[in-house]
Amino acid sequence: MLGRVNHVGVATPSIEQWAERYRVLLGAEAVGEPFDLPAQGVRVCFVDAPNTQIELIEPLGEGSPIHGFLARNPAGGQHHLCYEVPDIHRAKAWFEEQGMRVLGEPRIGAHGTPIFFVHPKDMGGVLTEIMESPRGEH
Ligand code: CO
Repeated sequence: MLGRVNHVGVATPSIEQWAERYRVLLGAEAVGEPFDLPAQGVRVCFVDAPNTQIELIEPLGEGSPIHGFLARNPAGGQHHLCYEVPDIHRAKAWFEEQGMRVLGEPRIGAHGTPIFFVHPKDMGGVLTEIMESPRGEH
């Protein structure tokens, strides 16, 4: 069902602080420009590692879904893991057929393709993002 790992989501109280550290760790060219994603309640910055991406996420607005996570992890931490799939609707139906808890309807994620999340209790404790492949592989 799952394809390649697209990114590891890391919640942080300060994107600026961690963007700076990743410029040192991976090189300035690896760190993208931060941008707001109001529909998801987060500010996002992609960092390119050689074989995947780190998605830094910072709360955006009072209703941000990551306020609770940062209250439990004030210094930040690994928030989710994202896998690619060729077809988001087929993937959602498959997870539901397994009795796994899909959180909400597919919506446009930070890469501009549809995503949904699967409950961590159904994925070994890991909040899991399922993302339609940006390369349009079917
Ligand atoms: Co993500």
